[in-house]
Amino acid sequence: EIRLSLVGSEMCIRDRSCMCMKKEKNELITMATLLKKDEKIERNTKTFEKIMFLYSIASKELETKLEIIKEEFKLFYDYELIDHIQTRIKKPDSIANKMKTRGLPLTYQDMIENINDIAGIRVICPLKKDVFTVRDLVRKIPGVKVIKEKDYIHNPKKSGYSSYHMILEVPISLSHNFMYVKVEVQIRTMAMDFWASLEHKLKYKPQTEITKSSSKELVTCAKMVNKLDNKTVSYTHLRAHETKANL
Ligand code: GTP
Ligand code: MG
Repeated sequence: EIRLSLVGSEMCIRDRSCMCMKKEKNELITMATLLKKDEKIERNTKTFEKIMFLYSIASKELETKLEIIKEEFKLFYDYELIDHIQTRIKKPDSIANKMKTRGLPLTYQDMIENINDIAGIRVICPLKKDVFTVRDLVRKIPGVKVIKEKDYIHNPKKSGYSSYHMILEVPISLSHNFMYVKVEVQIRTMAMDFWASLEHKLKYKPQTEITKSSSKELVTCAKMVNKLDNKTVSYTHLRAHETKANL
């Protein structure tokens, strides 16, 4: 009898904990739930810190997933799909400047809705075809939603800039809720990255304006970079054919 009643009470505890778990099922919330209506952005406040924390977790979540892809390809397929991954959180000054140039009111709501690159990840691949492999794998990451894609590889910018851009919504899990947070991913080859870094340095060097002739030169360089990328692809095709390696 004692044994039976023990079993009974054990079941009670188990059933009760099941009920609790059901009640505590994480619910989808938005960043807006942390804010007052039309709340103005104020750095060095708890609210600002909380919002930036959410962007940083989303960035870390996605970075980990991309690092796993990188290591999996190395270990399982003996292939360097990704050379390296960089992440950054946009600085408060850059957020404010971008919002000002776009004529947006400086509220959290406007920031969340319009500034898509607060969390930014750059994936640098050896070859052009790797960029599209990574793009396809990112599209397949469970739970991650693709909001927007821009293919500046097939359609380079006037400046000569070339990369594959994705705006994603990454689910982040908190202790009681979960939330989608926007992350911008730029996928590019090492050659494209070299060009973009060089151009960025020239463009943002203080007190210098890119002259017409130097921006023309940059476009010429971008075309050379593209040629280089296409050459590397034909080289690996040759190698794949020669070695019958599954590249
Ligand atoms: P912005 O971030 O305001 O430019 O938004 P957008 O919607 O115009 O995005 P876009 O996809 O054109 O560019 C987003 C990011 O790509 C920028 O923040 C840069 O990091 C990079 N980028 C775009 N164009 C250029 C360029 O001409 N040169 C360099 N170096 N980087 C660029
Ligand atoms: Mg940007």
